[in-house]
Amino acid sequence: MFGALFASPVFLIAFSTGPPPLRTGAAADGGINCTACHRSFDVNSDPRGRVVITAFNYTPGVKQTVRVRVEHPEARRWGFELTARLVNDPGRQAGAFTPSRDQRRVCSNNQAGPCNNLTEFVTHTHPADSSFDSTFPGTVGGNTWEIEWTPPATNEGAVIFYAAGNAADNSGSNTGDRIFTTSLTIGASAPGGIRPSITRGGVVEASWDAAIQGGNLPTQLNGVSVMVNNRPATISFASPGQVNALAPIDDTVGDVQVVLTNGGASSEALVVRKAAAAPA
Ligand code: HEC
Repeated sequence: MFGALFASPVFLIAFSTGPPPLRTGAAADGGINCTACHRSFDVNSDPRGRVVITAFNYTPGVKQTVRVRVEHPEARRWGFELTARLVNDPGRQAGAFTPSRDQRRVCSNNQAGPCNNLTEFVTHTHPADSSFDSTFPGTVGGNTWEIEWTPPATNEGAVIFYAAGNAADNSGSNTGDRIFTTSLTIGASAPGGIRPSITRGGVVEASWDAAIQGGNLPTQLNGVSVMVNNRPATISFASPGQVNALAPIDDTVGDVQVVLTNGGASSEALVVRKAAAAPA
């Protein structure tokens, strides 16, 4: 007896609207990411590449810019997906995204939104759905998307962002691309709290001679810390008008983000140029 041969339906995935939702690696969404289709390499398997989220403690209802950067030395095209959740209830959306022209919003039901009570995702724009292609075919080094995010209107506790990034090879296909995932948790700052700021032009070279005291290099001094390129910098001096910090040792050269935190409140990131031989 032979089994009957059933014709199974063939689903052509018409991939006209960029990546599907629920692909940031968030455990609450099943932990899946772009490697469902971009499967030449395992997720996060190449230490030369990364996806980095930059965001600050939120003041309820006060918009801020969340940055997602994808990097890899060999990649030539870029993509991402970002979501924001309540740490206390990671299946629930935290705040809302306002996508700009280099971004596209997609709700968990695969519709464009507004997502109302559904979780929401922001991704790059794809030439098939937008006149503006924010995958930037042919560009090297990496790409950063700046996403406007309105936090919850009231203090709902800590928020966690999840992102997946695609450092793609610009083949126009889903092969040869490297997928990275990350997450970032931010807290809520008290409304009316004073947020520190960095004056434009306020990041300058400083002498480091006086800093090393007994071989002790703190990354926090009087509740003040500085992040350079998302890594903690060593603090030698903190006063209301000046903070001296030694950039952490990494091989990043070029534009890096400097964020100043004081007592739990963080400044906007200031982008400064970092040179290989000038770590001060
Ligand atoms: C359902 C399958 C599927 C998933 C999931 C998926 N992709 Fe893709 N992706 C494709 C296909 C097919 C292509 C090639 C055709 C095209 O560009 O539309 C592609 C192409 C791309 C490219 C261009 C690649 C190149 O080398 O030119 C980028 C960038 C990209 N996807 C980003 C992402 C990101 C970021 C995610 C996860 C958030 C993701 N994709 C998830 C199917 C998928």
